Amino acid sequence: MRTRSMVEWAFSLPCRLPWRHRKPSILFVLLAVLFSSACRQDMHDQPKYIPLRPSGFFPDHRSERPLVEGAVARGNLDDDDAFYAGKGPDGKPVDTFPFPVTKDVILRGQSRFNIYCAPCHDRVGNGAGMIVRRGYRHPPSYHIDRLRTVPNGYIYDVITNGFGAMPDYAAQIQPADRWAIVAYVRALQLSQNATMKDVPPGQEIPTPQLLSPSGGRK
Ligand code: HEC
Repeated sequence: MRTRSMVEWAFSLPCRLPWRHRKPSILFVLLAVLFSSACRQDMHDQPKYIPLRPSGFFPDHRSERPLVEGAVARGNLDDDDAFYAGKGPDGKPVDTFPFPVTKDVILRGQSRFNIYCAPCHDRVGNGAGMIVRRGYRHPPSYHIDRLRTVPNGYIYDVITNGFGAMPDYAAQIQPADRWAIVAYVRALQLSQNATMKDVPPGQEIPTPQLLSPSGGRK
């Protein structure tokens, strides 16, 4: 607002100079702009090594210095095997979760699963996703006995390293989200294979009495 009014004010000033006298001053401004730009190349020509260029300074003549032993890239320490690799101290897949599984974790797992896994495994995990219907190799259903009894760390490992024809999802899905997906896969498995024993006490729905023993048919 303020700048605007100043500009308006500047334009409203009466200028007594006719245009032909104003020309030299315009030329002066143009020249000043032209010569005020820097022409030196110091930053460009400074001594530096481009990748793989040899060096006369180091005894092994390599400009790339070897990493100090035990160096770890920032954010890549990954010192918790159960969390980052899904493996216990014996190197076998763990059957626990590295953090408590709450409803929020399952909901997060559901959203990640529907994005990353459902295109092949389908939303219920039967392996008939859209990509498979278009010709991709049919994955096994999650509801077969073998996959129902594999430990959690095994599913985590399949996401991290891939399995057979399935590519890995380590780059797309961070470890905490991989665990959330594992929790959701467990929920899917339970949803297709639950028994009355899984229903918390007091929440059972009574068996309908309306159906006749013949299943309602006469
Ligand atoms: C591009 C398709 C595709 C996507 C996406 C995909 N999978 Fe798979 N998945 C497969 C195929 C195909 C197999 C079977 C691989 C084989 O047997 O060679 C498989 C197998 C599996 C298995 C069973 C491994 C076994 O022991 O038989 C699990 C568990 C699994 N996937 C989990 C996941 C999870 C979790 C995701 C999401 C993060 C996912 N998959 C995403 C295609 C996919």
